[in-house]
Amino acid sequence: MKTWMTGEEGEKTGIDKLVENFTAGADVGYDQRLAEYDIYGSIAHVHALENLELVTSLEAKKLRNELRKLLKKDISLNIGDEDIHSKVENEITEALGELGKKLHTARSRNDQVLVDIRLFTKAELFRIVREMLNLVESLLYFGSSQSDTPMVGFTHYRKAMPSSVGLWAGSYGEALLDDLTLLEANLELIDQSPLGAGAGYGVPVNLDRELTAEILGFDKVQNNAIYVMNSRGKFEFNLISALASVQLDLSRLASDLIDFSNGEFNFFEIPEEFTTGSSIMPQKKNPDVLELVRGRSASFSGHLSNLFSLLHGLRSGYSRDLQETKKSLFESLGDTGDSLAVLAPLVSALGVNEEELINAFSGEVFATDKVFELVKEGVPFREAYRRVKNNLDSKTEEVSEKLIKESIGSREHLGGPGNPGLDEKKASLERAKKKWAERESRFVDSLKELRKPEASGEEYENQKPEAGNHE
Ligand code: ARG
Repeated sequence: MKTWMTGEEGEKTGIDKLVENFTAGADVGYDQRLAEYDIYGSIAHVHALENLELVTSLEAKKLRNELRKLLKKDISLNIGDEDIHSKVENEITEALGELGKKLHTARSRNDQVLVDIRLFTKAELFRIVREMLNLVESLLYFGSSQSDTPMVGFTHYRKAMPSSVGLWAGSYGEALLDDLTLLEANLELIDQSPLGAGAGYGVPVNLDRELTAEILGFDKVQNNAIYVMNSRGKFEFNLISALASVQLDLSRLASDLIDFSNGEFNFFEIPEEFTTGSSIMPQKKNPDVLELVRGRSASFSGHLSNLFSLLHGLRSGYSRDLQETKKSLFESLGDTGDSLAVLAPLVSALGVNEEELINAFSGEVFATDKVFELVKEGVPFREAYRRVKNNLDSKTEEVSEKLIKESIGSREHLGGPGNPGLDEKKASLERAKKKWAERESRFVDSLKELRKPEASGEEYENQKPEAGNHE
């Protein structure tokens, strides 16, 4: 039976299966993954009810311990359960009878679902950041191990100037470090407790929202009850936008690797375990993993446009349309986490073909250097450019490894191929690792605390030493 049905009504009319499937069909799949967080939210809420004496201390302990038991059970959600919030309430009521019916006092599924989503998103975000830090590490260390390896730089898909593998790899490490800043800003938004906003207009008892925020490990309370509802979807939009930025970098990294490892370039060797074969062409080792990283990135603009369209015209407050934000959120978190997880070991094991990288340096790559030789002799830049351009067809000097190394070395300013600044970025990586590990451990510890069983009043009574029996 649904929580919002009175007994007789439910039995009399039942519910139309069509409506049930339509409203809860796909949603229970997402809610299944929110189960753990829904229970944490309820445990915290019972503390607030206890403070308000809406349940006695003994009742509160019973409720919390029953919720903890539920954490250990494999909850399997069916469409008939409607959603995870009703399922948990029904399970508790089944176990504790009348007492279970007090659990939903002073809250709504509207603030409940937000608690679940924010906790779930935090857990996913911490996973994503861990994977990101691994990938940044792979890129920066791969980059430093190859910092002197020459690599032609391209513009417009055409050979442009001398560059290095270190600068190329470092560019992606640095890009992801910037993306971490975007994710951090998003964590600030998500790390606000919605609990107590009720259906969007508060509840008629003086809930201690700061207490529940703290118990759940949120950084602070999200103040305005209407805005709590209105931020559903908006926070998702911003987070997915940051994830899209990550995905943009991953996708271009994948694209580079697809090109630079093919037979035309042969600069890099994708480790065999990250390639797949062809069912018809025995010689093929295809970069499917990289192609899927790129392919999955395509859905991010769809998610963003989905969320924006869903939200921009909605009346303030809760509408069921908001349920449709889950799909984009769950999919994008999953895709980014998975893409990062597969790229870090791939980059660490990437093979480098130094000979091919050097062979790609044909004479024209040094045209700009020639201009600068003249500039250093005092010829004005535009004149030097003209002279070199007019002589492009004349035989260029032999390209030697010495010439390549000198040319790269001459680009020694900050962030140039001769000075890619990888050590400084490694230091930023270490700082980011520390900061995120601290933040994640605060989250993990608060959930651990919520899981700890409490001695119920009854047990406490039994443990009391009998009068006169002091040892
Ligand atoms: N499944 C719903 C959602 O994700 C839960 C909240 C339902 N609230 C309601 N008023 N029907 O939004």
